[in-house]
Amino acid sequence: MRVGVLTGGGDCPGLNAVIRAIVRTGVFDHGCEFVGFKDGWRGPLEGDTQPLDVPAVRGILPRGGTVLGSSRTNPLAEAASKDGVSGLDRIRENLAALGVDALIAIGGEDTLGVAWRLCQAGVPVVGVPKTIDNDLGATDYTFGFDTAVNIAMEAIDRLHTTAESHHRALIVEVMGRNAGWIALHAGLAGGANVILIPERPFDIEEVCDYVQHRFETRYAPIVVVAEGAHPKTAGEAAGDARVDSFGHARLGGVGQMLAEEIEKRTGKEARATVLGHTQRGGTPTAFDRVLATRFGVHAIRAVMDGAFGTMVALHGTGIVRVPIAEAVRQLKLVPPELYAEAEVFFG
Ligand code: F6P
Repeated sequence: MRVGVLTGGGDCPGLNAVIRAIVRTGVFDHGCEFVGFKDGWRGPLEGDTQPLDVPAVRGILPRGGTVLGSSRTNPLAEAASKDGVSGLDRIRENLAALGVDALIAIGGEDTLGVAWRLCQAGVPVVGVPKTIDNDLGATDYTFGFDTAVNIAMEAIDRLHTTAESHHRALIVEVMGRNAGWIALHAGLAGGANVILIPERPFDIEEVCDYVQHRFETRYAPIVVVAEGAHPKTAGEAAGDARVDSFGHARLGGVGQMLAEEIEKRTGKEARATVLGHTQRGGTPTAFDRVLATRFGVHAIRAVMDGAFGTMVALHGTGIVRVPIAEAVRQLKLVPPELYAEAEVFFG
């Protein structure tokens, strides 16, 4: 069996742990050979590969990023066609030319959405869920999320002390796209005084009341805001007009907007910190290394069983196989009851 492996979309800590587990299990338990595809779907689209064997995955377990590279290339987009050949057919031709029998696609909603379309067209693909956003359906957790939450939590811990020294409100903008998982978990773990998530449009007056109340109890407030959160009065999140090849807008700016509004309405100094890509970089936590490793072991087993069109997933403490279609059908959002538990600590 000759298996292609790719990592697509935004990188996240744990990708190298999955790649290592796939290769080691595949070689030692099943006698597989591997082909590494570079930069997500760009690799199979252009036939761009790199060697992927046991020596190539030595020492990568604790490393962030992905040794295969990543991109947001969409092979189903118009631009992926060349000389009248569609992106899908180009991938099919390249896989045949390279003698690749099956593909393992490690990615989030977009990468796995493409994987599902390829499966429907007869290309044998197994999916592995990854994203710091934790917004993929059909799995309890994605790896990368725990590391991102820990990075954000540590930043919040540090911001508490400087906020208190200067009697300022500090606003922390975190990633997560249209889901508030990172904000909610990091905010709860870091003892934030207000947490704002996309699932629950906020009332700026109410936020200012919490901030004011916190100042009155002589502590400086920390507000954690997800990049996709927005006020009730605005229909959508702050960002700019640029969209990627999957049509996603680049989000950001709500933290600065909040800081300005809070200063204007409360008369207190407020500053924004945007954590940005620090949340995706560096070494994975133990939880993410273990989850990623287990996903890798189960992904190659799924390939050997011919379970194409499935994605490995965490259900409770077990790893199961679910249809990729189920994972990409709908984003997994923060449920209202979980937000209500966090709200107990606001103000
Ligand atoms: O999906 C992961 C993620 O980090 C989101 O939280 C964020 O909105 C987006 O990717 C940022 O993408 P880019 O790496 O293209 O800036």
